[in-house]
Amino acid sequence: MTGKASTLQIVRTVKDLRTAMAAWRNDGLTAGLVPTMGALHDGHFSLADRSVADNEKTCATLFVNPKQFGLDEDFDVYPRDEAGDAAALEERGVDVLFAPGVEEMYPEGSTTAVSVPGIGDILEGECRPGFFTGVATVVSKLLIQSLPDKAYFGEKDYQQLCVIQRMTADLDIPVEIIGCPIIREDDGLALSSRNAYLSDEERAIAPVLNASLVHVAEALNAGGDVAAAEADAAQQVLEAGFKSVDYITARHPLSLEPVTDLSAGARVLGAAWLGKTRLIDNIGAAQG
Ligand code: PAJ
Repeated sequence: MTGKASTLQIVRTVKDLRTAMAAWRNDGLTAGLVPTMGALHDGHFSLADRSVADNEKTCATLFVNPKQFGLDEDFDVYPRDEAGDAAALEERGVDVLFAPGVEEMYPEGSTTAVSVPGIGDILEGECRPGFFTGVATVVSKLLIQSLPDKAYFGEKDYQQLCVIQRMTADLDIPVEIIGCPIIREDDGLALSSRNAYLSDEERAIAPVLNASLVHVAEALNAGGDVAAAEADAAQQVLEAGFKSVDYITARHPLSLEPVTDLSAGARVLGAAWLGKTRLIDNIGAAQG
């Protein structure tokens, strides 16, 4: 800490969040929202920095959302460090941290869910049934609870960003959704809270996922055989020591349907298992 006076206000109820956001609105101040599940790293901080730069006030949220974890997934062991996260957000000029408990977000008796058929059913939606319904439900609640001018999401979770854009438009939620670039380690590995699960040996293998996506993007850029490049990329990942590949595929950058022509560019997306850890990544190709 720099010895600055403590300026981050931590709120735990929707009522207090609304009070804080309404006070800014009444003062004519613009507000940005940065939703997270905590265990913050430079990827999250890039969103916070962008919001602090774009808006007069910023609210970050920290909520490990049980509804977006499958029964066999890592909800119980997902890394949690609220004190560290709060200190880091304060350093970066964030004004409010909304860190509700599960009962506050999903009080007993609540049943409503937001699903985003189509774009929410493919790729991650297929591999992780219920995942995007969990994400869309919690993000729609966070947006409606806080009503910021802008909300910031990383391209690291590219399909999530597309789903949130679709959901926000469909529900007429008056918030501008801003996508922010992926922050990577020097060796190309996209920063992720789940990288903490990797052993040293797995960490050394992990950047191959990104390298394999680059291979597909280069094939697209060169007008090569995309299906062959996708198959090569999967092979490359398996040979490096990944356990299995869920998908490595070039898609239309907005619909995420299989790419048929490159007039809108393309997005190459991949998901693969390295031991017990599932890594996802994506990159733009042909201006995508
Ligand atoms: P979480 O995984 O904590 O990520 C919070 C935000 O940080 C997301 O918008 C994610 O895309 C972004 N992010 C993560 N790693 C990044 C990186 N390396 N570069 C740039 N941005 C990165 O995504 C979620 O939480 C949840 O699904 C949430 C949207 C909060 C809903 O529960």
